[in-house]
Amino acid sequence: MIIAIDGPAASGKGTVAKRIGLHYGLPHLDTGALYRAVARDTLARGGDLADPAAASQAASQLDVETLSDPSLRTAGIGEAASVVARHQDVRSVLLAYQRTFAHGRAGAVIDGRDIGTVICPDADVKLFVTASPEVRAQRRYLELCTQGIEIEEEAVLIDIRNRDERDRDRQASPLRQAEDAVLLDTTNLDIDAAFRAAIDVIEAAVGQAGQAG
Ligand code: CDP
Repeated sequence: MIIAIDGPAASGKGTVAKRIGLHYGLPHLDTGALYRAVARDTLARGGDLADPAAASQAASQLDVETLSDPSLRTAGIGEAASVVARHQDVRSVLLAYQRTFAHGRAGAVIDGRDIGTVICPDADVKLFVTASPEVRAQRRYLELCTQGIEIEEEAVLIDIRNRDERDRDRQASPLRQAEDAVLLDTTNLDIDAAFRAAIDVIEAAVGQAGQAG
């Protein structure tokens, strides 16, 4: 079973995706980490994030063993990731890895921006997880606080709005809800409630597929 989960920054999709993976015993891929790592590596080589050649070279030499590096979670790297993510060449280099991961024997839970639309248009279940910008900024602010990162909540909101705009307005695989994705608005849901709502959607989809087959 392939479960595709997309949504804007700090919508809760990553946490929900991780819990769904544990629940069904499916491997989980956070594709945002791929773009974050490409941004990190481009900067480490002294490259320009806006230069497609520099960023796609970093993408082609990416070491996926480094994706859980906690330094990837900073606000600066999130912003940098959305700059390299605009380059079609970078996206093309990362596509094969994501598809191979998705089509592993057990299936997968994959979260990102273009999973339901581009990476896995054939996913068994597609969710589009969102929340109001203010609620997403508050969640990300609290997450950064627990990591000891000092930042104003207002600055986090500005970052989130900028990143949403860049992700929605780009030409290459923009952030959008797939036509057959179910919208999950978590503005008024805590993480447990969001997880249960996601499970309900998945169970309904699996049940329908079973009836059809
Ligand atoms: O965790 P958060 O939602 O803040 O961001 P993320 O999922 O780690 O993604 C960081 C950035 O990578 C996004 O703002 C996008 O620009 C880019 N990204 C993308 O273009 N396509 C994906 N499938 C995943 C992330």
